[in-house]
Order: sequence, then structure tokens, then C-alpha cells
Amino acid sequence: MTSLRIDPPDFVKNRKLIEWVRETAEHCRPDSVHWCDGSQEEYDSLCRQMVESGTFIRLSEEKRPNSFLCRSDPSDVARVEDRTFICSLRRQDAGPTNNWVHPKEMKETLSGLFEGCMAGRTMYVIPFSMGPLGSHISHIGVEITDSPYVVVNMRIMTRMGRKVMDLLGTDRDFVHCLHSVGAPLEPGREDVPWPCNDKKYIVHFPEERSIMSYGSGYGGNALLGKKCFALRIASSMARDEGWLAEHMLILCVESPDGEKTYVAAAFPSACGKTNFAMLIPPDSFEGWKVTTIGDDIAWIKPGDDGRLYAINPEYGFFGVAPGTSDKTNYNAMATLKENCIFTNVALTPDGDVWWEGMTDTSPDSLIDWQGKEWTPDAGRPAAHPNARFTSPASQCPSIDPDWENPAGVPISAFIFGGRRSDVVPLVYQSPNWYFGVYLAATMGSEKTAAAAGKIGEVRRDPFAMLPFCGYHMGDYFNHWLHVGRLLSEPPRIFGVNWFRKDENGKFLWPGFGENMRVLKWVVDRVRGRASAVESPLGWMPKYESMEWGGLDGFTAEEFTKLMTVDREIWKKELLSHEELFEKLYDKLPKEFSHIRELLLSTFWLSPEHWALAPERYTGEHNAD
Ligand code: OXD
Ligand code: MN
Repeated sequence: MTSLRIDPPDFVKNRKLIEWVRETAEHCRPDSVHWCDGSQEEYDSLCRQMVESGTFIRLSEEKRPNSFLCRSDPSDVARVEDRTFICSLRRQDAGPTNNWVHPKEMKETLSGLFEGCMAGRTMYVIPFSMGPLGSHISHIGVEITDSPYVVVNMRIMTRMGRKVMDLLGTDRDFVHCLHSVGAPLEPGREDVPWPCNDKKYIVHFPEERSIMSYGSGYGGNALLGKKCFALRIASSMARDEGWLAEHMLILCVESPDGEKTYVAAAFPSACGKTNFAMLIPPDSFEGWKVTTIGDDIAWIKPGDDGRLYAINPEYGFFGVAPGTSDKTNYNAMATLKENCIFTNVALTPDGDVWWEGMTDTSPDSLIDWQGKEWTPDAGRPAAHPNARFTSPASQCPSIDPDWENPAGVPISAFIFGGRRSDVVPLVYQSPNWYFGVYLAATMGSEKTAAAAGKIGEVRRDPFAMLPFCGYHMGDYFNHWLHVGRLLSEPPRIFGVNWFRKDENGKFLWPGFGENMRVLKWVVDRVRGRASAVESPLGWMPKYESMEWGGLDGFTAEEFTKLMTVDREIWKKELLSHEELFEKLYDKLPKEFSHIRELLLSTFWLSPEHWALAPERYTGEHNAD
């Protein structure tokens, strides 16, 4: 048995933590234990060490100061949904959309895998806070890992180190997050730049509020504060405690006279969430500003005043690099100027990074994400489609002055969107909370080239939470309905679709900064300023009630195309809602069947009744 001493430093006082570290060290048998203090010196020294070991490449100090490139093993490049488990005591609490194994059985399997798994490595202990230190909405976790890559990424993505340890005191509880790349080093064996294991397990124990992750060093599989804690475990905590842990960005729209409206929005992966969170309004919106509170996750609690207040539990952005450019997201590019980690992007000859979409034309030669020579005629992408940047949120030019406000920001609107080439109009407002929850529950997105499956196929992704909900999706819908009932000032709920196409497959909407036009209508609705027409789906803008200055040539006819609700297509859409509902039958809110019936009967009404004709969205017809 190892005689490893764990020697907690002075700043570590929490008894449960010391005991857990002792037990884990005995079981995983690392060579040494490192208690992270979160200092710059610690970060720098780990980065230096990873440069020496070949895991990191230091980028040009001129082009990308204090930044690093890392290449993962080609087999370890994304979240692994089929290896992700919710191990609640009862199968029905995980629900049919999660993988489930009984916790006792899973613990036995994992215990076998973790035994001796850190041999030859250092075990790092990372205390971290999800959310601003000391906020009543924040929560604390400790991640034990054998990956220095995880430590440095966690320092960017969370508030991490000594100050969190102070908050833990001697007895405070925390979420236990145990991670190993699953690659023990035999004595004398040389390490590889990206150790990992073909066998992967990303496991959540919601009743215990703990996480065990084995075999992957990548992103959400390994940075356990993000998807595992802040969404899967937190959603289950939120259900028990009456709040919401959501896969949402948070932004603020500020009008020329300083009025601030906070909006939270959920989109499935690959729908431009980070771009929306950092939107720059078109020039014609003089005096309007959009600021960023978060780009991926929101923790939302009811306040005493009957409103919902949200924080971004994260401290950095872990964003998809390909497609990000000065044109598509100037603010993200500015955030990436320095102090960043880039994973699986390409390397330029002058020591900078490049990815598809960063510039109109690619450099003449690159080293691709697998370390191979690359030229534009290579016939393969230079960066992996899921290549990522890790960057401090504080470096974002559009970061909101209140992004670290421990009280959170009051949310006035929720926006839900997916990628739909037909069916869903540009924007519509739910008539009430219940319809809103239904629209979010039934949202779907078409698969893009980056995801597995047939391109164009619609994947239902309720609330963009399907891969991230730590309990039964039907219970989750009921929880949303319940929270809404308790609010005296619930946020208004909107659906959007930036991705509608015409009959030739061309996008009907320019998107990006132009989405400000939709955002302004949302804010104006919330503030009671914009008119709308009734539609089968709720309230919709008339052409006249949106701001069109500066978007020359976008006609009322084009707008009508974008807004059309096609009866026949919608009847099919409602049938496919039924497929989702059948899956969740045992816990489906009774409200949903009624809402579906209402929608269906609406679509059976004569066209004259609903006036689904184009003129509905223009002129004075049925103004509110
Ligand atoms: C993400 C995702 O990485 O949603 O944020 O997949
Ligand atoms: Mn996400």
C-alpha cells in the first residue's frame, strides 16, 4: 500500500475534503498530491510544465500573448453522450432520455477502473465556485483530477483556488467531482501529450450530488464544473430547491436612454449561441447596446419581488472556434487576443492560430489540429469542427458591468430557438407561461454537418437541455410550470428561428447583428411598446412594428415569407411533438396534452378564420 502523504497546506481546513482526498489518493495511487491555490504562479508553472512535456505549444508572444495550443488525441474530441449516465437510485427518476445504471453497480464498475488509475501522475485538488464568490445563487465544488490541462482550463472557466477554500471553511459541503484520464503510467514509461482511455464514463449521482468521470480529458467530459455540475447536477438541485439551472446565455439590451432589459436564451449546440450573447447592433441602432452576462449556462432563482434573477455560473468561455471571425463575432475575437487556451485548432507558421471561417481565405500552409502539414488543397479541415477556445469572460469587450453581481440580474424575457429550415417563423411570443413552456419543450433543431446523424434531420431538444438534464425530462417540464406559477412577474416567453430557408435553400434572414431587430421587438413587447398580431402560435410582429432602418432591400414580402405559419406543415409538426410526448408519457404535464389539442384544433380552422394569408403581417389588420 502506498505511503503517500497528502499534507494539506494551511489554507485547507475542510474536514470532509481532507478525508475525501485521503481516500481518493489511497484508491487512485498518484505519485503526489497538489492542492491548487489558483495563483498566477501556479497557472504559469503548469503551463510551462505542459510545454516541456509536449502537451502545450506556446503561441507567439507577439501575436497571441500568454496563450497556448493543445492537440487532443484524435479519439477524444467531443462530449460523449452515449457514455454519459445519470445514476439516480430509481431508473424512473433519470427518465427515458438519459442512460441509467443503478448507482451501486456503477460504483463497483468505477471503483475497479479508478483503482491505481493515477499511478505515475500528480493528483490535483481544485476548489471552485460556480458563480460569483459568496452569491446566494452560487455553489461550490471540488474537482480531483490527474490532468494539468483540466487545472488550467478550470482556472479560466471557474473562480478557483484559495478564496474558495476559505469559503469552504471547516465543514461546508461541496459537490464532489472526481476525474481521471484513465492512463496510469508504469514506472519508466514515457507519457503521451494527451493521455486518455478508450473506455469512457461520465457519471452523475444526483442524490449524492457527485460526479465521476473517467477516460476523457476533453471539454465537458473533463471540466466538470460546466455541463456535469452546472447543468446535470445543478438541474437536479434546482428541482429540489425551487430554482432553475439552464442551458442559456444571458444578455442585456440597453436602450439609448439607459433602460436595461435582461434576456436569457436557449439554443441547442451549433445555433450561434455565443454570437447572439455578444451581438453588436447594426449601425442604424444608434445608442443601443447589447452586453454579455453569460454565453452558455444560467442559474436562475426567484427573488422576493416575484421576478427571476440570473447569474452566469461560469468565469470564462469554452467556445467553438470554427466559424468565429471578426465579421461573425467581433467581441469573441477580441476576447481571444491573449491569455487563452486553444484546443484542436490549426497552427500558423508565425505561431498563431487559425480555423475554418476565421478569414475569407486560408493561409497557404498550416499545421493542422493533428499536427500534420496542411495546405488549402488538403481536402480536410485544418481545425477540428469542435475545436475550442478557453478564454476569460472578463476580457470580452461586451461584458456587462453586472456580470459578477452576486444578486444576479432580473430576467424579463426567455427566448427559445432552434435551427429549422421551414415550419418555425422568425419570432413569436407565447400568449402565456404555459404555452411558453410547451414551445420550449417541443423545440427542435436540424442536424448540421458537425453532429452525428443525417443532415437536416430534426432532433427534438427540449429547452436545449436534452443532453444536460440530470433527471426525468417530464419532471423537468412540471418543474418549469411550477416555478412559473409562483412568480408574480414571470418573464415573457418567445420563440425564434434564424435559420429559415426559401424554396431554393437560401437563408431568408441575414442573422448575426441583424438579430438585434428581433431582440428590440422582444424588449418592446416586454415593455408594452410594440404592437403584434394574433397567430395560431401566439403574438407575432407586424412588419411595421419592427425596426428596418439600415437593412435596405428587406421587403415586407420577404418578411411575410419568414413569418408564414403553414397549416399543413404544422399539422405534421404537431404529430412529431406527439412522438416526444409518448416517450415521456408517465410524467408528461397534463397541460401539454391540452395545449397540443388546442393548437391542433386551431390548425383545423378555416384559413379565413385565422387569416394565415400574407397580408396578416402587414397593414393595419388586427392590430393590438
Ligand atoms: C457546449 C454544448 O459545448 O452545448 O456548450 O455542446
Ligand atoms: Mn452549451
